[in-house]
Amino acid sequence: MAFSSTLSAWAISVLAFAVMVSVGIANAQLDANFYSTSCPNLLTTVQPVVQSAVNTEARMGASLLRMFFHDCFVNGCDGSVLLDDNSTFTGEKTAFPNNNSLRGFEVIDQIKTAVEQACPGVVSCADILAITARDSVVALGGPTWNVLLGRRDSSTASLSAANTNIPAPSSSLSDLIGNFSNQGLSTTDLVALSGAHTIGQARCTNFRAHIYNDNNIDATFAQSEQANCPSTSGSGDNNLSPLDLQTPTQFDNNYYNNVINMKGLLHSDQQLFSGGSTNALVSTYNSNPTQFSTDFVNGMINMGNIQPLTGSNGGIRTNCRIAT
Ligand code: HEM
Ligand SMILES: *[C@@H]1O[C@H](CO)[C@@H](O)[C@H](O)[C@H]1NC(C)=O
Ligand SMILES: *[C@@H]1O[C@H](CO)[C@@H](O)[C@H](O)[C@H]1NC(C)=O
Ligand SMILES: *[C@@H]1O[C@H](CO)[C@@H](O)[C@H](O)[C@H]1NC(C)=O
Repeated sequence: MAFSSTLSAWAISVLAFAVMVSVGIANAQLDANFYSTSCPNLLTTVQPVVQSAVNTEARMGASLLRMFFHDCFVNGCDGSVLLDDNSTFTGEKTAFPNNNSLRGFEVIDQIKTAVEQACPGVVSCADILAITARDSVVALGGPTWNVLLGRRDSSTASLSAANTNIPAPSSSLSDLIGNFSNQGLSTTDLVALSGAHTIGQARCTNFRAHIYNDNNIDATFAQSEQANCPSTSGSGDNNLSPLDLQTPTQFDNNYYNNVINMKGLLHSDQQLFSGGSTNALVSTYNSNPTQFSTDFVNGMINMGNIQPLTGSNGGIRTNCRIAT
């Protein structure tokens, strides 16, 4: 009895160690030079397509950055978000946070076509999302970084995980901290990555409750948002407002200035500055843009390390919309 419980405790710790080691190795396999011999022109193939999409519509940079987040939070950065539904398959595109909201799939198709022309069958859709997110941030004036590569593509997707893992705009601070922690991300990652809401737009349905029902919001700001977002659910649901009312197409640190001034558009944005443990970090990022850039970049790398498929796991899709 004593012996067998010691033995099972031992077996459990060996198993836990093996899991930790394999997760560690999976992350260690990502490498900025992963395609340097197999696809040397990868980065110079992707960047102009992103730049041209952002030139056509600045918001596209925001949409492409968000797509990487919604890929990584659902069973890892594996390109699962890109798979189309068909008669026998339901992917993540109709999940609540994505339906009528996630956009930019045509740009990913364009990039994939260009990359397949340069290096057929070599580069994963998951890595294309990671590079595209970085190039989008840069195109809108944000920081740059070396993107770690070597992810492979899933053959599956999970509608239910997309519905449970992607944080909701109604979340409290402790929910948000918990949702990020579930992905192995810290509270610093949460506050820094939320700075992505310095660009892009949100739909009325996602901020209606905040501008009508919450008290921790600037009254003048609430009133001006209400002008474009009717109080009745179902009316004007898709009306858009910028997440950063100051510079919505510039990747800067004004997001933190907004939330300090009680002008966060989403309930979840304002939660980061409502007297809780993250107030101090919001103030730091507002007064120190360099610290914000450093922590945002670290956050993007940490998010990009969530459960990648590497080595012989997963595959390389030729069309990002269809599993191979
Ligand atoms: C902290 C938890 C987060 C919540 C609750 C949240 C929620 C949302 C919501 C509700 C929208 C508007 C969607 C719509 O109305 O259609 C949005 C937009 C956006 N989110 Fe987040 N988000 C979070 C974190 C992040 C992170 C980590 C990133 C990227 C690093 C990100 C990037 C964006 C961008 C760029 C947009 C604008 C997209 C566009 O204009 O197409 N968000 N987010
Ligand atoms: C997704 O959006 C479409 C179009 O508005 C709608 O018909 C459909 O019911 C939505 N699906 C889900 C699962 O919410
Ligand atoms: C986030 O955290 C809260 C609290 O733990 C939990 O109820 C929720 O399901 C989590 N996920 C999402 C998508 O909000
Ligand atoms: C449906 O999509 C799945 C996932 O991409 C794919 O494996 C399957 O071949 C597709 N089936 C049809 C009939 O297109």
